[in-house]
Amino acid sequence: MDKLIIEGGAKLKGEVTVSGAKNAVLPILAATLLTDEPCLIKNVPNLRDTNSMLKLLRSLGKSAEFDKGKVMVSKGRETNYIAEYKLVSTMRASFCVLGPLLGKLRRAKVSLPGGCVIGARPVDLHLKGVKALGADINIDAGYVEAKAKRLHGAYLYLGGVYGSSVLATDNVMMAAVLADGKTVIESAACEPEVVDLAEFLIKMGAKIKGQGTPIIEIEGVKHLRGAIHSIIPDRIEAGTLILASLITGGDILIKNVQIRHLGALIDKLDEAGAHLGHSDGALRVKGNRRLKAVNITTLPYPGFPTDMQAQMMSLMSVTRGISVITEKIYPDRFMHVSELNRMGAHIQREGPHAIVEGTKSLSGAPVMASDLRASACLVLAGLAARGKTSISRIYHLERGYENIEKKLINLGAKVWREKE
Ligand code: UD1
Repeated sequence: MDKLIIEGGAKLKGEVTVSGAKNAVLPILAATLLTDEPCLIKNVPNLRDTNSMLKLLRSLGKSAEFDKGKVMVSKGRETNYIAEYKLVSTMRASFCVLGPLLGKLRRAKVSLPGGCVIGARPVDLHLKGVKALGADINIDAGYVEAKAKRLHGAYLYLGGVYGSSVLATDNVMMAAVLADGKTVIESAACEPEVVDLAEFLIKMGAKIKGQGTPIIEIEGVKHLRGAIHSIIPDRIEAGTLILASLITGGDILIKNVQIRHLGALIDKLDEAGAHLGHSDGALRVKGNRRLKAVNITTLPYPGFPTDMQAQMMSLMSVTRGISVITEKIYPDRFMHVSELNRMGAHIQREGPHAIVEGTKSLSGAPVMASDLRASACLVLAGLAARGKTSISRIYHLERGYENIEKKLINLGAKVWREKE
């Protein structure tokens, strides 16, 4: 296993281009199961998670080729409806093959993804949704088996204890596009990645309205065709790069950004005193001002994203004042707190809140990455810290950030890998 070493203190400078969105490409690849015709997906990030999804598609009988940011998915050998534990357990997003398998084959057997380090992650909303469309569900030996002679449209409310669910919305939408009649999903997730999936499905011939709002309407069709689609830029990668510039006092130009997907983050940074310049899909981020602490509450889109909470905590650790960070999506998503404290941060956790008292500087230390966004948080802290930080279990970072070391090195960061 590799660890990432960062010699902190370099101010980032130069230009960087954001890759395609991980959370958009995974369900979109799953959606190719809805047709036998070829699909070409562009702007695909080369990530561990992308490759896990391609493996899963191949195991389900698709042929999938990945070359220079493009994935071609076509009909392969005989179709299989069983998504095995060993493939699903590596990545929770694998569970979103349930909807398309059920839609196309009227049958799916998908391993339950299980818990994960950021907290309990149930699938009750996914199951509620496909049941409403007429599927019989049986859970046995760690697998969900779903069957339906026919799927029919339905009205369903998909909100849960923590609000809407991104992948449950995706799953239900993908099953409903080939159901008989009209489906209305109320309390649907509004995330840009859900919209990107809907746009891809529409190119395939699906009839969908309301994507990006809490009410999505789907009129089932008999058949979907192949389509060509380019994935939206990754708003979480863009957000992480913005914070990398601010935390190092850098000056960088971030290209391939959808500014309107970053509203909650940009608003909070504005409140903290960081004013970002933007034009033509690019953001200029100068870290030349002393920032002040701001409070953050994570919420479903368009609220502040939980996937930026850990990175924002790094910035607040070295910002003047006290910041209260409240996690409303995954109340246990605080594995990074103790690691940041090992680097000299002053953070106290109280239930779903973290109280961050900004300190002048952090000091490099050996730390351990627990999950994808916690790894990004530690990279930011390492870039800002005095001295050397070594981050073990860095493979988490490869799940969601394409070429991140290369991108940071090009911006002047001192980053390299060593064997554990
Ligand atoms: C997606 C993202 C992930 C992000 C998360 C929240 C992908 C591949 N992953 O994950 O990066 O952190 O959205 O923005 O897109 N819940 C239930 N029952 C369910 C499903 C979810 O109670 O059946 C709860 C979850 O435990 C959580 C909340 O709903 O508290 C939101 O989770 P959800 O939107 O489903 O997350 P994912 O779609 O798995």
